[in-house]
Amino acid sequence: MPKKIRLGILGGGGDSLIGVLHRVASFINDNYEIVGAVFNPNFEDNVNFAKEIDVPTNRIYKDFDTLVEEELKLPEDERIQVCSILTPNFLHFPMAKKLLENGFHVICEKPMTTTYEEAKILQDTLAKAGTVFAVTHTYTGYPMVRQMREMIKAGELGKIHKVDARYYQGWINPIIHDKEKRSSVWRLDPKKAGISSCMGDIGVHAFNMVEFTTGLQVKSLLCDFNYMYDDNQMDVDGTVLIRIGKNVKGVIRASQVATGEENGLAIAIYGEKGAFRWEQEKPNFLYRLSDTEPVQIYKPGHAYNSELSLDGTKLPPGHPEGIFDAMANIYLGVARAIRGEKYNDGEFPTMLDGVRGLNFIESTVASHKQGNIWVDMD
Ligand SMILES: NC(=O)c1ccc[n+]([C@@H]2O[C@H](COP(=O)([O-])OP(=O)(O)OC[C@H]3O[C@@H](n4cnc5c(N)ncnc54)[C@H](O)[C@@H]3O)[C@@H](O)[C@H]2O)c1
Repeated sequence: MPKKIRLGILGGGGDSLIGVLHRVASFINDNYEIVGAVFNPNFEDNVNFAKEIDVPTNRIYKDFDTLVEEELKLPEDERIQVCSILTPNFLHFPMAKKLLENGFHVICEKPMTTTYEEAKILQDTLAKAGTVFAVTHTYTGYPMVRQMREMIKAGELGKIHKVDARYYQGWINPIIHDKEKRSSVWRLDPKKAGISSCMGDIGVHAFNMVEFTTGLQVKSLLCDFNYMYDDNQMDVDGTVLIRIGKNVKGVIRASQVATGEENGLAIAIYGEKGAFRWEQEKPNFLYRLSDTEPVQIYKPGHAYNSELSLDGTKLPPGHPEGIFDAMANIYLGVARAIRGEKYNDGEFPTMLDGVRGLNFIESTVASHKQGNIWVDMD
């Protein structure tokens, strides 16, 4: 067993949503050890949380700059190798940039930055740094999503006609309808979240899913947002028509006000020879549709799956694996890249996915603000 990779965590404190997913995912394949962190901007909370989860407190720092400064003083074989950035969005860019400039590998939450401009700067920074960089579009780690990608790549659906991706949640309802609450959450504050709430937070996952599974790139889009209230500056719902090619079109729908919906990410891809349908809330079932044959259901762990899909399953078929495992698969790919081992394309979303994501988010906002017009993506 190679030595564990020394992992630093930024954000993801005990008060956070996503921290536990990254911590558990990093442990699942026995590749990482958390050796340093700034879990929280409040130092006392930070240290208390480290004690709670049994991370040694000698490398719990008061802030991010101190973490970088102090870690660089350590010998290379003790220093943090990779940092996971799990803070609110506006901190991703400055943290990622400084980490890359100082030779650290980076695992960054989405959206990668708050602007497209920042994303392109980060891309240049990475090119100079030559380290490993991943963006955690978690859903790409599911075995059945990987299977869909590999079968589409192998031509199983023939030419793609139509793509329909949706990500529906309802969690913001009790916040958006309350004037005081809607001005107090960071996801509705442009200074902290960037220019979009719904499309930046979840629409970007659906967009990534479209490009990850089809291997195609969205060329242009037209977006219509709903802000719900005049004093709210951030979209909480949006519908995006997409053009991928002359005769390849589709729709990306995202909502945080879809009452009763939980984490309803779903994608359907229709081609000349068949179609795929997959839903995040039932991630171990991949439906293959046909005009002439009965519906087929693919499931994880069977020998008929692709190498990329099978690599993401740890137990024999019938042992449900879920979101923690999907994130763990991304961490596994990153571990291989850091160690210089062989890994497959698609094992983790890269800088390019992050850049495309910001290109998408800004294009949706531009389309809506200019009167719901068609906007070309780069
Ligand atoms: N991949 C996914 O599916 C997924 C799901 C949820 C959230 N996210 C992303 O993860 C990020 C965090 O989201 P969340 O829902 O966990 O947010 P959250 O508000 O629940 O938690 C943010 C954490 O960051 C900490 N923090 C804030 N400022 C900090 C600073 N200056 N230094 C160190 N820590 C700081 C907070 O104390 C808290 O622990 C966001 O960018 C979000 O888009 C991704």
